[in-house]
Amino acid sequence: MNHAGLRAMAVAAICVMWAGTVSAEPTFEGRKKCYNCHKSQGESWDKTLHAKAIESLKPNTRKDAKLKAKLDPKKDYTKDKDCIGCHVDGWGREGGYTIEEPDKFLTGVGCESCHGAGSDYRKLHRKAGEAFEKSQKTMARERLVEAGQDFEFAEKCHACHLNYEGSGWKGVKKPYTPFTPKVDKKYAFDFEKAVRSDKALHEHFKLDGVFTGPPLPNFHEEFQKKAKPPVKSDTGEED
Ligand code: HEC
Ligand code: HEC
Ligand code: HEC
Ligand code: HEC
Repeated sequence: MNHAGLRAMAVAAICVMWAGTVSAEPTFEGRKKCYNCHKSQGESWDKTLHAKAIESLKPNTRKDAKLKAKLDPKKDYTKDKDCIGCHVDGWGREGGYTIEEPDKFLTGVGCESCHGAGSDYRKLHRKAGEAFEKSQKTMARERLVEAGQDFEFAEKCHACHLNYEGSGWKGVKKPYTPFTPKVDKKYAFDFEKAVRSDKALHEHFKLDGVFTGPPLPNFHEEFQKKAKPPVKSDTGEED
């Protein structure tokens, strides 16, 4: 074999080694998987404004709001790259919503938009749920964080709700939301108030305590205190 051939083989070998050590980012899978085990949250979410977020991009919907924001109420914005990203799950991310192949389980602001891309942590939910059922064994929440589950809710909300110039949120980048406090002060976003909205967030259901320890948001206790018992759903068919 000549030098070039040997070198190509060496490079290929290094690439293989490298790929083996770099763990892949968790990917978006759509809410169907979550529904199988969290029917109560799923059915409650279905009734929220977040669930219907893509409807607002269709022509002849929310006419007054669009006119006020200088948008065209007759236009179809459902395939517009300047809009769709904040009205679906996982835009621009592996497994997320695409205009070319719109997946109905990724429309609207769904589970993974707030809880994180689910390919890895949902497997831990299953494992931990089974161990808990068998022997009351618990698992540390830290492990969910390592698998991509998000507990920094405010940051998630801000990426959509405060993504406009002058909002004060550090991550701002185009495309911006057209609905800012300049258009109407009702669009000002106050996380502490918004996270308690029953128009946009699902209701809360009692946890058995399968996961323990930090990180926990400061409103966790408050939500659990008022939570209802969930409908026990099938845990065997998420694949
Ligand atoms: C195979 C079943 C299964 C699947 C699939 C699943 N989960 Fe879970 N999940 C569980 C179990 C079991 C728990 C522990 C519940 C408890 O403590 O009562 C849990 C807990 C949770 C919690 C609470 C964690 C905490 O702080 O204690 C969240 C949030 C959650 N799941 C979201 C999701 C989302 C989002 C998806 C989809 C990406 C998903 N789950 C998929 C079974 C599942
Ligand atoms: C992927 C982008 C995205 C994320 C993440 C997101 N939202 Fe939203 N939110 C929207 C969109 C889009 C709407 C408008 C839905 C509609 O009416 O069509 C909305 C609507 C709302 C509303 C209703 C406002 C009204 O008109 O009363 C509240 C409240 C809200 N979101 C709170 C939150 C909170 C709290 C979080 C974080 C825990 C969050 N959102 C995360 C995009 C997002
Ligand atoms: C950076 C994220 C983002 C982008 C980009 C974005 N939106 Fe939204 N959109 C939101 C959020 C957040 C809300 C909820 C605002 C609220 O009610 O506080 C919303 C709400 C709406 C509403 C409902 C407003 C109402 O009061 O009923 C419409 C209609 C809408 N968006 C259309 C669009 C269109 C059309 C575009 C593209 C020109 C677009 N959005 C781009 C985040 C975004
Ligand atoms: C707009 C953001 C948002 C969306 C979308 C969302 N969640 Fe949640 N979810 C939350 C917040 C905030 C909590 C409260 C966390 C806590 O108390 O520790 C929560 C809590 C939960 C819990 C813990 C038990 C409970 O009811 O409080 C489960 C399970 C859960 N969500 C599943 C889901 C599933 C399944 C979906 C999709 C159908 C979903 N979530 C969509 C924000 C969201």
